[in-house]
Amino acid sequence: MNNFKILLAFLVIGCTSCAKNDSEPNQVTADKTIAATDVSTLKLSDDNTFQNTLPFPIGVGINMGILKRDSRYRDIVIKEYNSISAETAMKMKSLRPSATTYKWSEADDLVKFAEENNKRVYGHALIWGNSLPGWVKDFKGGYPEWKQMFKAHITQVVKHFKGKVVAWDVINEAFADNGDLKNTIWRQKLGPNYIDMAFIFAHRADPSAILFINDYGMEYGNNKRRGLVKYVEGMIERGIPIDGIGTQFHSRVNLPDAKFSRALNEIAATGLKVHISEMEISLNPASLQSLLLSSLLEREQAAKYEYIVRSYNALPKKQQFGITLWNVTDKDSWVLNYYDRPDWPLPFDGNYQKKPAYQGILDGVN
Ligand code: XIL
Repeated sequence: MNNFKILLAFLVIGCTSCAKNDSEPNQVTADKTIAATDVSTLKLSDDNTFQNTLPFPIGVGINMGILKRDSRYRDIVIKEYNSISAETAMKMKSLRPSATTYKWSEADDLVKFAEENNKRVYGHALIWGNSLPGWVKDFKGGYPEWKQMFKAHITQVVKHFKGKVVAWDVINEAFADNGDLKNTIWRQKLGPNYIDMAFIFAHRADPSAILFINDYGMEYGNNKRRGLVKYVEGMIERGIPIDGIGTQFHSRVNLPDAKFSRALNEIAATGLKVHISEMEISLNPASLQSLLLSSLLEREQAAKYEYIVRSYNALPKKQQFGITLWNVTDKDSWVLNYYDRPDWPLPFDGNYQKKPAYQGILDGVN
């Protein structure tokens, strides 16, 4: 604030003396110019938002319906975050009403919002065993037809957003808890090679897109994470164009700290970029219907967020693709519906106010 006052005084003096030699601008105009400078200067120097404070991109998964109708939600996205992921708008179920058609409107609106507000757009997700339109499950044909449909989807979607979406989750949630490949419909129809193929097709469609494999549960047991990491190391050896690993971190307050740092460090040991891609810290993992939010739980949550951010910030700089939170406030978190329970997993509460978790995230880089 003091710096700002000095700057303001300097501008006033500077502009006033300019105006003396200038017949055009009057004092009112000059003051207006100063007032405009004031806001932006203040933002850059004194505003401790996520995007102004964190030394890596900070993103959020957004719901387009809420973004359009709720200005307070929108304001938080604009003010706090510099990267956005589509919570659902870029999934196959949203983009593909039928085998021959594409519906771009909602995802295009997301991209437009991002362009207008200077946000990075993260593409989530090209190939996943869930959020599939009904016609995929009913799709008839042998290997060649499936491969053609799979390739067309990846190619059309990546090309549509070329130059707008900087990075993609090419493959989402492909691994089982024991570290083997999950038997998704893609694996059943195309064989285990579907993962390599997806990356090759995506890379051909946009050679400059940054390509990720993304999964959940990387911080729970070791088997799943190690299965994924080993698989990715094989991809690197085979020359598959993969750039990064996303660890979702849909996580919970009662998981020991060491599990998070171990997950991050083992993933980073591949040398690839690391994205914490869908983070929230649940306070009610036991799904107790009667649980109430307490200040103790809030403090524990803040400490967990702080620890994760600190561990992430300790990774090599060039591997820090960013941290993305999944949803904006506690009332729109997917966790509430998905687990049908009260929960408060995010840094903003249902009244759009910052929680201790917010400060925890900022403290993680101090
Ligand atoms: C979830 C969305 O948040 C929900 O709105 C939707 O109904 C189901 O998908 N892992 C992922 C995300 O990769 O796409 C999921 O998002 C959450 C789990």
